Amino acid sequence: MKSIHHKTRNDLRESIRRAMIVLLNQRLADVLDLGLQAKQAHWNVKGPNFIGLHELFDKVAEELEDLTDEIAERAVELGGVAHGTIQIVSKSSELPAYPLDITSGKEHVAALSSALATFGAATRVAIDTATKGGDADTADLFTGVSRGVDKLLWMVEAHSQAKE
Ligand SMILES: [Fe+2]
Repeated sequence: MKSIHHKTRNDLRESIRRAMIVLLNQRLADVLDLGLQAKQAHWNVKGPNFIGLHELFDKVAEELEDLTDEIAERAVELGGVAHGTIQIVSKSSELPAYPLDITSGKEHVAALSSALATFGAATRVAIDTATKGGDADTADLFTGVSRGVDKLLWMVEAHSQAKE
C-alpha cells in the first residue's frame, strides 16, 4: 500500500513523511479500537458502581475521540490517507480483543485499564520512533496523546487501587 497520496508544500522530507504516515496509521487503528472498547465497557458494565463507571467509560470514549482526530489528521497533513475504516482497524489494531463475557465493574475496570496501558506503551514507543525519524511535530503529537492516555488510565485504574 503506497503511503503518499497527496502532493504537499510541507517541507518535511518525503521519506520522513512516508514513515510517519505508516506510524500514525498504526496508532490510529489502535486508538479507534480502544475507543470502541471503552464504549463496549460503557454499554455492558453492571453492578453497584454502575452509574459512575457507565459515565466514566463514556468520558474515556469521548476523550479518545479527540486524540483519534489529531492522529488521523496528521497522517493526511503529511500527504497520506487516514486509514479509519472498521475493516482496516480490525486487521491492523495491535490491541488484544475486548472480552465479550464480562459484566462486573471490577472486570471492566481491569479490561479497560489493560487496553489503555497497552495503547499508552505503544504511544510512548511512537514518540521515540518519531523523534528518531526526524519529525518533532509527530513526536510532540504522540507526547500529548500519551499524556492524555495516562490521565484516562489513572481515572479508570483508580477504581481498583484503594487499599482495603
Ligand atoms: Fe451512552
